[in-house]
Amino acid sequence: MAEPEACSLENYLALPDHSMDERIAAARQALGKTTILLGHHYQRDEVIRFADFTGDSYKLSKAASETEAQFIVFCGVHFMAESADVLGHAGQQVILPDLNAGCSMADMAEIGQVEECWQTLLDAGVGEDEILPLTYMNSSAAIKAFCGERGGLVCTSSNARGAFHWAFQRAKKILFLPDQHLGRNTGHAMGIPLSEMVVYDPWQGLAGIGGGITPERLRVAKVILWKGHCSVHQRFLPEHVTNVRAKYPGIQVIVHPECRLEVCEKADALGSTERLIKIVREAPAGSTFAIGTEIHLVNRLAKEFAPLGKRIVTLDDTGCLCTTMYRISPQHLAWALENLIAGRVVNRIQVREDVKYWARVALDRMLEIRA
Ligand code: 13P
Ligand code: SF4
Repeated sequence: MAEPEACSLENYLALPDHSMDERIAAARQALGKTTILLGHHYQRDEVIRFADFTGDSYKLSKAASETEAQFIVFCGVHFMAESADVLGHAGQQVILPDLNAGCSMADMAEIGQVEECWQTLLDAGVGEDEILPLTYMNSSAAIKAFCGERGGLVCTSSNARGAFHWAFQRAKKILFLPDQHLGRNTGHAMGIPLSEMVVYDPWQGLAGIGGGITPERLRVAKVILWKGHCSVHQRFLPEHVTNVRAKYPGIQVIVHPECRLEVCEKADALGSTERLIKIVREAPAGSTFAIGTEIHLVNRLAKEFAPLGKRIVTLDDTGCLCTTMYRISPQHLAWALENLIAGRVVNRIQVREDVKYWARVALDRMLEIRA
């Protein structure tokens, strides 16, 4: 059915942000319990204020697995909406208000490359019973399914350590996808020497040294890290920690584990977005924090906790924006909701049934691990 003029996206994009507030609120009310809005902490204030439920990737996937709502409108990025579709009940539909809201880190691992890497490991003499694939939530459903089918699982930044333990109880080695930093930080915190963690580069496929690593090194490594990263968090440098400590004596530095090891080592604490918020919330009045994560969350915390006497600054003054999270605008949200009222589901995220089965196995294993 052709989309009526009034509900076409262009009509919304021409309007200013603030003019969406009343429309979104009215649409939320009209849709009632049929629809739940999930919002990740990196969303803009103009969007997250309408969320029924906010959280980090772990909390949001749990909420998606538990809700009875018919429609799940995901204010986050593509891999989160895919996971909600995998975890949802039959008959539920997941909507991502802007399909361009992807994740550049998730895009750094493609299923064909992962299959090639696995074959390289087997060719190097790594036995299939020796290694488990473990993927960060920030990956495609196809990669989650790949891990599930081979006895592995998914993790988030809040349960990566638990997932490593789980895997090491069952195998000697881990292939960790796609964030090298979260994998290295987790392995390092568990006492695995850096010399036993190698980085597999999917773009280096020379014969005999697939992924840029010799078969010998692949055989002895305990953790094989995929060469992926978050462009928002990788921008934070150890010098930023030094500078902020010099500028604000006594400041506590807290960072997301997608930051480099050199930054994490200099920080006072690491945590998922949910944990970073908890640290700030539970700190006494007068505390000062520099936070190394996406700028919308840092700014929101600064505003919220200033009246409580807590000072919050960004770890890097030039600010780090996740441009794909930012794609979910109030206009896109209003458009998706008003179409729902008109009986049209726009931007549905639907994972293929054959992929869904094993992706669900991998996600269920993750949900069994405490965050
Ligand atoms: P959290 O699970 O900590 O919210 O992280 C999600 C993410 O994409 C961070 O870049
Ligand atoms: Fe992906 Fe980084 Fe954005 Fe998180 S902050 S969604 S990892 S690009």
